[in-house]
Amino acid sequence: MRISRINTKQSTWNPAEVDLSILEPLIQKYQGKKGNMIPLLQGTQELYGYLPRKAFEKISEDTGLKLSEMFGVATFYAQFKLNPVGKNIIKVCHGTACHVQNAKEISEALEEALKIKDGETTEDRLFTLESVACLGCCSLAPVMMIGEQAYGKLTGNESVKIVKNIRIAENN
Ligand code: FES
Repeated sequence: MRISRINTKQSTWNPAEVDLSILEPLIQKYQGKKGNMIPLLQGTQELYGYLPRKAFEKISEDTGLKLSEMFGVATFYAQFKLNPVGKNIIKVCHGTACHVQNAKEISEALEEALKIKDGETTEDRLFTLESVACLGCCSLAPVMMIGEQAYGKLTGNESVKIVKNIRIAENN
């Protein structure tokens, strides 16, 4: 189940940084092949970390795939991201067990501390905040994950402290 919000508005961050030349080998590999849309989108995301609008346009021009169909697929599958993500993705669990244990408090505390909403990325690109379904460690509810690390039995204050410590470590 996907519950993280998708911001379908394409980001305008650093559009000049999108180097389309690195897409060429990928496009050549899949050009004219049946069922090439998903591998092209996956490959593009591997290259940029997300799916830049300019990359969509180039793929469409070079392969004939329709832009609207590519957007449709990209917004349907949870694996695809339409906006740049932060270095650290904070996944706050809103599965049933965490919901009952007040996961909302964690999301709200993090939104306030990071000055972003669910699904957004901080300006310094250090953090992306996402609400997700069960992370599989319900006995630790409420839970959040940052990278591969899970943090359980959290309060809003504790989650903010963890994120602040990561920021301090990243800035040193
Ligand atoms: S509901 Fe949150 S870890 Fe299962």
